[in-house]
Amino acid sequence: MDTKTEQNLAASMTADTTVIIPYLAYLLQDFWELGSSPDDMVELLADHVPAGERQRALDLGCGKGAVAIALAKRLAMRVKGIDAIPEFIGQARSAAIREGVSDRCSFEIGDITVRVLSETGYDCTVYGAVGPVLGEPEAMLAALRKTLRNGGHLLLDDAYANDDDTAAPYPTLDAWNSLFENAGFEIVACRPSTDSATDYDKEMGWIAQRVDELSSMHPEQADLFAHYLKAQRGEYDELLNDIVGATWLLRARSHR
Ligand SMILES: C[S@@+](CC[C@H](N)C(=O)[O-])C[C@H]1O[C@@H](n2cnc3c(N)ncnc32)[C@H](O)[C@@H]1O
Repeated sequence: MDTKTEQNLAASMTADTTVIIPYLAYLLQDFWELGSSPDDMVELLADHVPAGERQRALDLGCGKGAVAIALAKRLAMRVKGIDAIPEFIGQARSAAIREGVSDRCSFEIGDITVRVLSETGYDCTVYGAVGPVLGEPEAMLAALRKTLRNGGHLLLDDAYANDDDTAAPYPTLDAWNSLFENAGFEIVACRPSTDSATDYDKEMGWIAQRVDELSSMHPEQADLFAHYLKAQRGEYDELLNDIVGATWLLRARSHR
């Protein structure tokens, strides 16, 4: 993986340094969902896409497989998940066995910036809270569009800036709508996140505990872990105040 891709991987986990990467599996061991809401994704597909049109899915940056396994278990979909962190893929494989869907799920260690170029023809692609890894929104949407067959669906978890907040580095909802249109997608549905301050407090508690433990084990890296904790708090504050997390269901129009 090249340096830029590693930096983007760190950024996808709200970290500004790649030095944190070897510690992410430890820091996030209490989490099963690493960003996206499996419930929202399952319900969006169940409500809007007939079963026959959503059989094969690709989950890029699948983390521990929370979304992929939910799609396999609750919607009987066949899902391939790809993630760069080997521990996450190991946990996803174990979870698929535990949940009785290992025949419908496969999980692979891989770099999605490379794999996105050759994975094609899916009914559904999931890009859940992976952020800047595939580039700016235009490039990201173009790359994701190519993984889908005509009429296939993209489940995208990202965020939009509140209209009156020009400081946030996220597109507004209107700007996202234009980006989708220009990339050849029609918007089927959009669900704003319902996560609350209480949810975030609980998750911050988990991370703070693991930061304490790691700081005792590696005192020379205590600043790194403290900085990571601060960045996580910053993201939660941003989600509560400046931006709105959302899951979109988008349909790929036929190429013109
Ligand atoms: C915030 S997590 C979201 C995980 C999952 N989609 C979810 O919502 O639970 C971002 C994920 O993207 C993965 N990732 C980031 N850059 C990657 C890359 N270049 N190749 C593969 N996976 C990558 C990270 O390892 C991490 O698991």
